[in-house]
Amino acid sequence: MKEINSHISGFYKLPIAERQQLISKMVELTAKEVEMLRNSGYLTALQLDMMIENVIGGYILPFGIACNFKINQKDYLIPMVIEEPSVVAAASNAARMTRKHGGFQSDPVKSIMISQIQLTNIENIEEARKQLEQNKEEILKIANEHDPILNNLGGGALDVEVREIDTRRGKMLIIHLLVDVLDAMGANVVNTMAEAVAPYIEELCRGKIYLRIVSNLATHRIARSTAIFDKEMLGGEEVVEGILNAYEFALADPYRATTHNKGIMNGIIALTLATGNDTRAIEAGAHAYASLNGHYSPLTRFEKDENGNLKGEIELPLALGIIGGMTKVHPMARLALKILNVKSAEELSQVAAALGLAQNVAALRALASEGIQKGHMALHSRNIAKLAGVPDHLIEKVARIIVKDKKIRVDHAKEILQQLKNE
Ligand code: MEV
Repeated sequence: MKEINSHISGFYKLPIAERQQLISKMVELTAKEVEMLRNSGYLTALQLDMMIENVIGGYILPFGIACNFKINQKDYLIPMVIEEPSVVAAASNAARMTRKHGGFQSDPVKSIMISQIQLTNIENIEEARKQLEQNKEEILKIANEHDPILNNLGGGALDVEVREIDTRRGKMLIIHLLVDVLDAMGANVVNTMAEAVAPYIEELCRGKIYLRIVSNLATHRIARSTAIFDKEMLGGEEVVEGILNAYEFALADPYRATTHNKGIMNGIIALTLATGNDTRAIEAGAHAYASLNGHYSPLTRFEKDENGNLKGEIELPLALGIIGGMTKVHPMARLALKILNVKSAEELSQVAAALGLAQNVAALRALASEGIQKGHMALHSRNIAKLAGVPDHLIEKVARIIVKDKKIRVDHAKEILQQLKNE
């Protein structure tokens, strides 16, 4: 490929078709590749163009359904968008193991978000604190004037917390505006409110405000879910013991805890993406919460119940919405919410927590017994066969042979294809 110059001024101003043409010329795309950019599926070029800047196409990922979930006595079909094989099947499988014991119990989740206001250069910290305390109602009033609809629906700014932090640039007061955002994820609402109250606080406290932004560590929006996973369905006592050992490993070792939590997020992020929510916010919040006590820890806990079954619990912040953002704009996100049939952001978080727990148990069960690769390999082998150029009607056959031969590699798939042709 020839060398390119990435300095393109006004790229964002071009119509999408011209952007496609320009990029296509620069990197010498084939007609088939250009067609792939043009054919963005169920989203029109205009819809895509309205979501982000510099759009040249859409990007499709698999959309699957996790089955068998009963949460707070209601059955759910959970939409998941993810590229990794085995994840959806694993979640469905683990959920099945809870049904005999009543499924998942998820706690109520309050939709309270934190907006941070960073007050610096304060003349008198004690006086500033006093002013904030005395004028709390006025701060809340100003914040709420900026979202009368939220207020009428029963939400809105409801409290102010003040934290003092020591930084290398001196002491700062960090003001937390707590806002009940109801069914929204809430970042937009709380950012607007923080910006609205900042000038008043600046004058009140005689300092200088810089940042006014949501915190993605939503510690007032904690989701908790528990379930009993059947001992026999898990594979017996030995597997339960293995899972408890895996849990202790994660508790003691951040290298393992990271992978343990990654498995949980396989489920939660797939649902977050399917419903048009902000995956980065959820991921950042979860990992920060996992290290809140100063030691990066697993987001789940496990023990045996009196009958030797596995009792699992998950706890993490989940700022998920069913209104605003992409949730109502993206047609597949709308469809996902319809399939999921949740009536509130709270219910969505309750489902997401249960899904995270199921995903974790499924991974730990596999790791504590046959290992993770067996499940992965069935789908992976089909991808390898495809990569080796195996025609569609032979993919299943070649995939089975390379799994049986324990040589799941492109070169071996090519060899098998050749043998089949020779036959
Ligand atoms: C793979 O995507 C997720 C796992 O690594 C999670 C785990 O190790 O617990 C299997």
